[in-house]
Amino acid sequence: MAHDYPPFEQGRHLLSVSQFSSKNLQSLFDLADAVDPIAKRQAVCTVLDGAMLGSLFFEPSTRTRLSFESAFLRLGGEVTTTTGFTFSSMAKGESIADTSRVVSGYSDVLVVRHPDEGSVAQFAEASTVPVVNAGDGAGEHPSQALLDVYTLDKELASRSKRIDGSHVAIIGDLKYGRTVHSLIKLMSLYSDLHFSLFAPMSMELPDEVRKYAETRGHEVRVADSVIEAVRGVDAVYATRVQRERMTEELATANTQGDLLNWAMLAEADNLDAIIMHPLPRDSRPNSFDLASDVDDLPGLAIFHQTDNGLNIRMAIFLTALGVNIEAVQLTTKQRPWKATLR
Ligand code: NCD
Repeated sequence: MAHDYPPFEQGRHLLSVSQFSSKNLQSLFDLADAVDPIAKRQAVCTVLDGAMLGSLFFEPSTRTRLSFESAFLRLGGEVTTTTGFTFSSMAKGESIADTSRVVSGYSDVLVVRHPDEGSVAQFAEASTVPVVNAGDGAGEHPSQALLDVYTLDKELASRSKRIDGSHVAIIGDLKYGRTVHSLIKLMSLYSDLHFSLFAPMSMELPDEVRKYAETRGHEVRVADSVIEAVRGVDAVYATRVQRERMTEELATANTQGDLLNWAMLAEADNLDAIIMHPLPRDSRPNSFDLASDVDDLPGLAIFHQTDNGLNIRMAIFLTALGVNIEAVQLTTKQRPWKATLR
């Protein structure tokens, strides 16, 4: 669904990638670059001293929750968190509006993940502080798209290429996978893109997302096989079957073996492609996901994505709370300790 949210800046919620123009996207990426020594823990920062993050995750999460919380902590803030419905008062029937109003009274910014599409926007309506959407059902996942595009830009740059004019395959569950909805929409800010899609039957990309890209001048092609989809592309973005959003029957109907593996990339003559995935990767047998035999390929970028998530989420908090890079630098010092393995 298209919404008319204002551009993302100080004092605003972050609910959708549609809040970005090329200009504020670049500003966010510049901030993400600038905080790199803090993300890499070469330096410690206290710019958010006294600020409190309310972290509300009503769906499973590892990297999104931990990277949002780590990002806030690394900027010197503090975090309160609740996970799942069982341990929150929503289990007692409390409404989204009441929960949001209460928790926003304890926090300076909220990060919310919830299984229902549109639910995070409802949190935002009742909140007295900025709310960041960390995934609303099959709707959107803007911070993931931001870190995906940030990563893709860097991976392509390391090959002397740009996002403008690139060819990207997007494969897997394109219907329920919210990360690809946000990704395609955010990438549409660039020019002359070629998307090739492959999805199992009944997991195809929603028309609305496809049209969003097409009306902005990009080519969207649907391939008959994964091998056809990944042939000749600069990057492949694979996604997991979102089993929690469909019946087990549907999840297994058209999903045998791997979604993408080494042999398929070899057959498509594209072992050098940049390989991306929002993770988690479903590593159970026959899970129809990205196989781990691609992990030694030179283009594997999945852990660059997770690392870059910290930079992007720091940049999101700094923007929402109106902190500029000068203030960050004034409150940053070298750290006296080392945490790396020798
Ligand atoms: C994704 C999500 O939750 O939408 N994970 C993530 O946030 N990195 C993708 C998924 O669950 O498949």
